[in-house]
Amino acid sequence: MTATAMRTHRCGALRSEHCGARVRLGGWVHRRRDLGGLVFFDLRDRDGLVQVAFGPDWTPPEVLERAGTVFAESVVLLDGSVVARPADQLNPDLPTGDVEVRATSLEVVGPAPATLPIPVWRTKGEPLPSEELRLQYRHLDLRRPEIQRNLILRHRLLQRARATLSDLGFLEIETPILTKPTPEGARDYLVPSRLHRNRFYALPQSPQIYKQLLMISGFDRYFQIARCFRDEDLRHDRQPEFTQIDLEASFVRPDDVHAAVEAVLGALWDEAGMPVTAPFPRLRYGEAMERFGTDKPDLRFGFELSDLSDVVRGRGFRIFEEALAQGGRVRGIRVPGGAAISRKDVDGLTTLAKGAGAGGLATLKRQGDQLTGPLSKLDGATAELFMLRDGDLLLAAAGHDATTSAALDTVRRALITRLDPTPAAAHAFVWIVDFPLFERDPQTGAPVFAHHPFTAPHEDDLDRFMAGESDGVRAHHYDVVYNGYELGSGSIRITDQRVQMRIFQALGMSEADARHRFGFLLDALAGGAPPHGGFAIGFDRVVMLLAGVPNIREVIAFPKTTAARALFEGAPTTVNEEELAALGIQMRP
Ligand code: AMO
Repeated sequence: MTATAMRTHRCGALRSEHCGARVRLGGWVHRRRDLGGLVFFDLRDRDGLVQVAFGPDWTPPEVLERAGTVFAESVVLLDGSVVARPADQLNPDLPTGDVEVRATSLEVVGPAPATLPIPVWRTKGEPLPSEELRLQYRHLDLRRPEIQRNLILRHRLLQRARATLSDLGFLEIETPILTKPTPEGARDYLVPSRLHRNRFYALPQSPQIYKQLLMISGFDRYFQIARCFRDEDLRHDRQPEFTQIDLEASFVRPDDVHAAVEAVLGALWDEAGMPVTAPFPRLRYGEAMERFGTDKPDLRFGFELSDLSDVVRGRGFRIFEEALAQGGRVRGIRVPGGAAISRKDVDGLTTLAKGAGAGGLATLKRQGDQLTGPLSKLDGATAELFMLRDGDLLLAAAGHDATTSAALDTVRRALITRLDPTPAAAHAFVWIVDFPLFERDPQTGAPVFAHHPFTAPHEDDLDRFMAGESDGVRAHHYDVVYNGYELGSGSIRITDQRVQMRIFQALGMSEADARHRFGFLLDALAGGAPPHGGFAIGFDRVVMLLAGVPNIREVIAFPKTTAARALFEGAPTTVNEEELAALGIQMRP
């Protein structure tokens, strides 16, 4: 540090070894306390807090007086000396808690007003302001040490991901933001072109096609910390713009992609102080749906689903008989100790199941030798028939698998939250593999791609697919799931343009339409494409989980609300007529 440096130390860096040193600090007044002629600041910067004391024995009177008038969150520069705190004033909760700075000068370089719209310092247990206020005054909210910690962790994780991929031979290459639509299942954000009237760019939903083009061009291994844009309904773990750790590699099989992804995730968890072991176990999609009702199972817990169809068939329960006659099944969850769940909580679970599309939940409780609940009325119902132990609860839903899976997955997640059972492991990573190539749209029944239309059909199912079948065709698509969250997704890609065209057609595109939208990719594939595959990790979700916070807005500096608004700067916003005219756009009333 030169003699002219504006500050000599970071506030949070001072320790006992600095005692006796003259220091110059700059920071925010986190909190001011006035105590019998003394004034104390908790002075804050990115690295932490330090106590600054102003007192008549070491501070000039005019400085002491000024210190008593400074409002919290003002920015100050001050000189002082570091002294050891007396033994009875040590603060073990603060890394700087062994010392204080006795100030001899004070300059208020950025005064803050007496009251701010939201506080930065709060008393212990004081709730946070509403999220709306926090996002509206994000410059203040971002000053809170908790959120600074989240963003510092985010930075460290990013650097670690970069270093890990670079060490594995992946090249960081940027791809365009103004682009042509890349279908990832959401709506595109469109950008009108001024120079080309009635033409639009789209913001990328992911760099999917570009990274494939880079493989076709021979870059062999690519990665990017990629910003993606999707105009979709938002949830706690979704944002309209978000960040992926995106990668692609040539001459690879799924195992090679899995190994690269495991290396990155292993490094990230290690960076957060939580070592995990790879390789991660694998679960086939079909098995995940059967046992957990979801392709994002939280494997830390039991409560697995079972098929009760053969157990209940022909026992006079009308709803079940109807479901079975219509080709559905009866599936249920046994909850050990669940007989203790209150009637009200069981009703709550039923409401959740209905919300997820089920007609209801049928229950059976065993307490001692007594069976209660609607299922006890089945002909010949016994605890043994339903394999219930004393104190167990059975929850059952009838219908087509799509309905019972969704309902029982919801119920299972709620059981985990409410009963808070001891997890079998802290970190349950799992690869979900062998996805179907197509799913059926629940409303229209039309085939929709399960991943995206560049995913290769499994070679064993390729002939059937090319012959026009889509049901039961498997894809080379894999997801990584962690404690019930989908962290990322990837696949081996199609390299044969005929197969690619066939996929587009299966999705209802005419050949002309497919050429209009994806001709550049089809031509590139026809020009010599290596076998390739890749993956994208949802980075915001990873940071959210590693920071231990409940939603991704806590790990994004300037997030959007769940209604996709930017409250701080106020977007989306109106634009004036002139701007619209320059773009050739006329507003509809
Ligand atoms: P996919 O669409 O599955 O795959 O996205 C990969 C991962 O990105 C995260 N993610 C999101 N995170 C926050 N907000 C969102 N709106 C959002 N949408 C997705 C999820 C998801 O698992 N191109 C392919 C990858 C590939 O095939 O290589 C893709 O984008 O964690």
